[in-house]
Amino acid sequence: MFFLNSLEAWTKQEFEDFFRSVWVVKNNLSTPQGRVLSQSALSHVHATLFFDQPSTRTKMSFMHACEFLGMHTYYFDGGASSSSAKGESIQDTYRTLGAYSDVIIVRSSDKNLVLDMRQDFKAWGYNKRIIQAGGGSEFHPTQALLDLYTLWEKSFLEKSSKIEEKTFALIGDLKFGRAIKSLLRGLQVVGAKKVYLVAKKGSELPAENKIEALNSGLDLVETSSFEDVIEKADVFYIPRMQSEYESVSSDARQGQPKIKTPDFVVSPESLSQMKPDAYVMSPLPRLQELPEEIDTDQRAIYWEQEKNGLWVRIALLHHMCKDLILKNKIEEFGA
Ligand code: MLT
Repeated sequence: MFFLNSLEAWTKQEFEDFFRSVWVVKNNLSTPQGRVLSQSALSHVHATLFFDQPSTRTKMSFMHACEFLGMHTYYFDGGASSSSAKGESIQDTYRTLGAYSDVIIVRSSDKNLVLDMRQDFKAWGYNKRIIQAGGGSEFHPTQALLDLYTLWEKSFLEKSSKIEEKTFALIGDLKFGRAIKSLLRGLQVVGAKKVYLVAKKGSELPAENKIEALNSGLDLVETSSFEDVIEKADVFYIPRMQSEYESVSSDARQGQPKIKTPDFVVSPESLSQMKPDAYVMSPLPRLQELPEEIDTDQRAIYWEQEKNGLWVRIALLHHMCKDLILKNKIEEFGA
């Protein structure tokens, strides 16, 4: 696999194999010896992170993941210090990244950028690995992989129900939340059955995403009431309100988007109504929808998701660059 934009091309078996490889990576690289060995796996490979949108976890975990594998890693924001400030087209900019990098990890407000990049590279004769690290309000496949891995690990270690046996509640900003849309695609592949879509008017999941999910056989139930699902769901997935997509609401003082008040909050009271083995998940960053008081509840697993993001991205890079690994390094690495 040289390209990752969306998860619908994966099979359930590929998910299973991938989660097992994440587990191996996580165990192997948790030891100093494993870390030293992994350093030589891809030390001749060059990776560029091209992010034109802000990020903390995705950026840092990809940077660290590349470093874990010994890659030469560069960060480029395409901003004022680049030739785009002189009017260079985005196409010429990413062509330049392709000239120097083996792997390009992209976060962009343009959901089509990585698809365009792939087309252009094909035409240009570049055989580069491209990873979608957040595209507009539509794609965030590596987030979905780490979300699903976290649940897979829980069922694997704690022998709890499998992902496909769980009932999901996707809550809040379903209109702009790209993590939600990628997770929904992942749930289609693993064969999840029931998903509640909990959104207030104006924040509902767009029709095309709903149709895609319904066509795959998912049972979608829409509601605007958190109360309706609080005792029924096994997994509550709640991203922040994606205020940056509201073009009209800018804060004149800061020049920043005005942060929207969440439509739903997972309060200690709401936790008390959830099943004892439910999970509360978030792609983070969290704002008011997840008050700090709930962090210590064992059902709040978003900080585990954050940690798993590193192992998932190492396993993904390793998987996508497997053919570049020098032969004798494959057995040493062990995944
Ligand atoms: C994203 O980049 O979409 C984040 O992981 C979630 C968010 O920004 O709310």
